[in-house]
Amino acid sequence: MPAALRDSFGRVADDLRISVTDRCNFRCVYCMPAEGLRWLAREDILRFEEIHRLTRIFVQRYGVRTIRLTGGEPLVRVRIEELVAMLNALDPSLDITMTTNGVLLRQKAKLLREAGLKRVNVSLDTLHADRFAEIARRDAFARTMDGLAAAEEAGLRPLKLNLVVMRGVNDDEVLDFARLARERGYEVRFIEYMPLDGQGRWNSDLVVPNRRLQEQIEDLFPLVPAQEGKAAPAQSFKFADGAPGGVGFISSVSDAFCSSCNRLRLSAEGGLRTCLFSMRETPLRDLMRQGASDDSLARVIEAAVWQKEEGGALHISDSSYQAPAKSMSQIGG
Ligand code: 5AD
Ligand code: SF4
Repeated sequence: MPAALRDSFGRVADDLRISVTDRCNFRCVYCMPAEGLRWLAREDILRFEEIHRLTRIFVQRYGVRTIRLTGGEPLVRVRIEELVAMLNALDPSLDITMTTNGVLLRQKAKLLREAGLKRVNVSLDTLHADRFAEIARRDAFARTMDGLAAAEEAGLRPLKLNLVVMRGVNDDEVLDFARLARERGYEVRFIEYMPLDGQGRWNSDLVVPNRRLQEQIEDLFPLVPAQEGKAAPAQSFKFADGAPGGVGFISSVSDAFCSSCNRLRLSAEGGLRTCLFSMRETPLRDLMRQGASDDSLARVIEAAVWQKEEGGALHISDSSYQAPAKSMSQIGG
């Protein structure tokens, strides 16, 4: 029976997000500067065997059940489906998912599904091709939409869409996304814009509180809370009239979910992060490369999780707020 990974505030971590690369084929304005970031050298990122080993420890010793592969863009990592198969072999009942920008899904969806991926979350911030090109700084709307279709055809359902809502940029599309959710049976998740853009563009005026979005949607489509077993970071709703699909709100800025946070993150270079906004990372890669045993890695992991910050870190109205120097693509979404 695995022991739970507990922190000093009594929270149990059972959701591990693994960044498989810091690189990306998009340059979303809320995530990185137009010129991109300084990418890690190949030898600095975890090898598949190293990711497999750490995941095995999290799954077998600590009962972690949800593994989310992120980036950067996870599909730019060569033969990523082989990693999915390796992780799936640890325990085929694991909930292995991926957060992707979707542009490579036409090539990869079927392979991923066959390797054991259960679902995908696709980042899609607009339904207009011209806006897409402005936000992602890549003219790839049609390919991304085709990627969504490929994911559905491959059985990676229900499809979740993530959109980062920015005032004056895409906040007029909220109802269009709610309609899309109903028409296609998608779960659309509205994410508040967080100060993790790696270029200091973020500003609290650009954040639209999710409460406002929810009100707009409820005027047209009344919502009922989706039955979920426990408090979760995304507040999820179904449509009261029984239409398919649903909407969710990730209110990291206006209503941080720190008190129920069950997440851990592993950066592409093998750093364990207990919070998106952590100012420190526990480097596991070099320990592994120096020959550390599973037991000693486990001790380091337990100590790091025990020290997970209480949270409430996002006092954005607080002028002394300091964003971590890293961008979302470097941390893993
Ligand atoms: N604020 C909120 N969400 C962000 N993401 C990337 N940068 C930010 C940010 N500054 C999200 C993207 C993607 C996931 C990987 O992280 O929408 O879905
Ligand atoms: Fe790439 Fe995702 Fe960042 Fe966009 S949000 S630049 S797709 S890592």
